[in-house]
Amino acid sequence: MRIPLIAGNWKMNKSVTEARQFIDAVQGQLPQADVIETAVAAPTLFLQTMLDANAEGTLRVAAETCYYEDEGAYTGETSPRALHEMGIPYTIVGHSERRRYFNETDDVINRKVQAVFRNGMTPILCCDETMGRRTAGEKIHWVVNQVSTALKGVSAEDAAKIVVAYEPSWAIGSGTSASSDQAEEGCYLIRQTLADIYSDDLANGVRVLYGGSVKPDNIAGLMAKSNVDGVLAGGSSLDETSFIQLANYQNL
Ligand code: 13P
Repeated sequence: MRIPLIAGNWKMNKSVTEARQFIDAVQGQLPQADVIETAVAAPTLFLQTMLDANAEGTLRVAAETCYYEDEGAYTGETSPRALHEMGIPYTIVGHSERRRYFNETDDVINRKVQAVFRNGMTPILCCDETMGRRTAGEKIHWVVNQVSTALKGVSAEDAAKIVVAYEPSWAIGSGTSASSDQAEEGCYLIRQTLADIYSDDLANGVRVLYGGSVKPDNIAGLMAKSNVDGVLAGGSSLDETSFIQLANYQNL
């Protein structure tokens, strides 16, 4: 059974104080992790404070990115080994904003996926799709290619643990989510790609999320789709009340 994963991505928002206030506000308001898992990916700068504040909580504190080497002369980068030692379970890899603004290539993303697994964490691998590619009919090739290149050299044992997010960049930050059918189509495509690379069994066990303007008023329709196992929410994960609503989508 795939346990739903309701995840937030704070991007470069909040301060340490605000991060702590968020953790305090969500305590006791989130579902049990074996029913609906919740996670928030936050700037590296806040992670230890959040972990300390969340010691008794069910929320998973996640990283937004890390480097692909474990350590060395890479000024300003974050070591996946150090994240793991802190107790971070998930790291986002390959977000479209990192691809676009920080020139992360498929090769870099593949190395990061391997580094996250090598250090005992789970990548939340993001695949994007632009409206231009969608209208040009390239979206299938594009999404399949991102999944396959990111997983090059990754064993089935590791791949079985991955989380993949379908995040069309035309929906991110736009205020308008993909429709439930479009989200289902993207998540299904990702699952089929995993089945082609590995096996049906493996693909059926992997959680595939949808991201792009997810809000309390559209999450239930998205989560009703059989291939959508969760969401990766940006803007609506910043506010405690809306994150709590997302996590409790079954009661909305
Ligand atoms: P928004 O929910 O703000 O559209 O952001 C989605 C996203 O990029 C999550 O990674």
